[in-house]
Amino acid sequence: MKVLTSPESVRLWSREQHAAGKTIGFVPTMGYLHEAHLSLIDLAREHADQTVVSIFVNPTQFGPGEDFDSYPRDEDRDLRLCKERGADAVWVPAVDEMYPQGYKTYVEVNELGKHLCGANRPGHFRGVTTIVSKLFNVVNPDVAVFGRKDAQQARILMQLNDDLQFGVKILLGDTLREPSGLAMSSRNVRLKPLHRSQAPVLYEGLQLAQKLFNQGERSAEKLIGAVRRHILQHSDDATVDYIQLVGWNDLEPVDRVTETSLLALAVRFGNVRLIDNILLEIS
Ligand code: PAF
Repeated sequence: MKVLTSPESVRLWSREQHAAGKTIGFVPTMGYLHEAHLSLIDLAREHADQTVVSIFVNPTQFGPGEDFDSYPRDEDRDLRLCKERGADAVWVPAVDEMYPQGYKTYVEVNELGKHLCGANRPGHFRGVTTIVSKLFNVVNPDVAVFGRKDAQQARILMQLNDDLQFGVKILLGDTLREPSGLAMSSRNVRLKPLHRSQAPVLYEGLQLAQKLFNQGERSAEKLIGAVRRHILQHSDDATVDYIQLVGWNDLEPVDRVTETSLLALAVRFGNVRLIDNILLEIS
């Protein structure tokens, strides 16, 4: 497995693969890899000849007071896991190479970042779309893989890809869960033991809403109310940032489930903010 640091070396590697007639699958990450990331590598490998992973904790997607400094990092372990999982190359960019002194260019997708995480984290998606544009420009992948846990991010990146005509095939990997139902996340390691034991209430709440939906419930108020009650009744320490029902296409809040809607939440346990979601689909 090649470990690449400079954008030039990644460009060269990418050109060589394409010149040899090989397709490139790309898995952008912020590192501290867990099984959910590794399953994205599997998906990339199924759909492309060569797989490259990027590991970069992107400062521009963290707001002031957010957890950029405390975001967990372990490069050696990440490289080992990528190698074991069959990645062909890993790109570990340096912050000052991605954002050198005097850096001025940002990429923004309008509208889709107004609600859900975008409402509580101003500038977050601008940072994500900026870094992913930069990574796409250098890697020039045929396929890129993102996780469904970050549903709003996935939707925004699909729009970015269409609007800027990157021509990348975007694949979404399913949310992987711990046996308790808690969605896998690099941030889970920062949960205090008490909070870790309470955090499964998030998915339990979503599953409750799924059950109500399967029984015919379509009202956003009722579905959201059920999730909120479950979380607050079964966890003393949860602080709800949001629980919202939005249309999957425009990510605008809806009163009732119509076609495909996203029921998404962000909840804090201490200073750890967790997100999760389910898609409610009327077939
Ligand atoms: O989902 C993530 O880990 C990040 O937001 C991404 C897409 C790698 C951009 O930094």
